Amino acid sequence: MGSHVVFQVMRYDPRRDVEPYWAEYDVPVDEGDTVLMGLMRIRESLDGSLAFRASCRSGICGSDGMVINGRSQLACKTQVAAMVAVRGRVVLEPLRNLRYVKDLVVDQTPFWKKFRRVEPYLMPAAAPPAAERRMTMPQDAFDLLSKASDCIFCEICYSECPINGIDRGFLGPQALIKAFRFEFDPRDDGAAARLAPLSNVEGVWGCRTVFNCTDACPKGIPITEGIQRLKRKLVAETLAGMQPAYRSPEPVEGPEVASS
Ligand code: SF4
Ligand code: FES
Repeated sequence: MGSHVVFQVMRYDPRRDVEPYWAEYDVPVDEGDTVLMGLMRIRESLDGSLAFRASCRSGICGSDGMVINGRSQLACKTQVAAMVAVRGRVVLEPLRNLRYVKDLVVDQTPFWKKFRRVEPYLMPAAAPPAAERRMTMPQDAFDLLSKASDCIFCEICYSECPINGIDRGFLGPQALIKAFRFEFDPRDDGAAARLAPLSNVEGVWGCRTVFNCTDACPKGIPITEGIQRLKRKLVAETLAGMQPAYRSPEPVEGPEVASS
């Protein structure tokens, strides 16, 4: 890899621009640099107006998801050399399926609203005995759920999901894997509240098992498998008369996502 790489970045400032446009930067890079390091170099030395999100620089905070050379990824976990080897340059766009705010920053509001819709917390039937200071879970349940607990809320699965692109009400992979994480926790007793909103095409039945989310997740979470387990649980509970076969979707409150 040479000492300079072209970063082709989609720029858009709704206060000034009628529509997005491409800007190119000749960025000095060192061996081992990540795409995030290149973006920081642009903002520090070439163009201080470039907007993007980042914080931890180590794949933990989930802030810097963006489309890099056509695929949603974390900029801090993506090597410049790997991108250049395939395409000769680094091409950057904001995440898909969310409204542009500015440059590589998107409006996360719909993503978080949908996350809250699945009641993403433990709802135990009763408080633990006073003598107990913890609510432990069996090892097999931990093994099943631990990967789903690794989610860093990066929105990469949401960006890669084609259903989120065509159905603005679809809860999306992240909300559904969170529902799975709590629904299969043996300490939880919240099925009635949590499962009901999922039994429609904006919940689990909207998932067409494309596997894009699973392939793209930077934490290696088997998202599609978790959604399939939720479907099977809903069918079993329906056959047992515990759930209706189908419920009408409830609208997500407030302004909804506008695909860019
Ligand atoms: S499930 Fe994976 S891709 Fe989706 S928000 Fe969580 S960490 Fe990101
Ligand atoms: S900057 Fe935190 S995950 Fe990349």
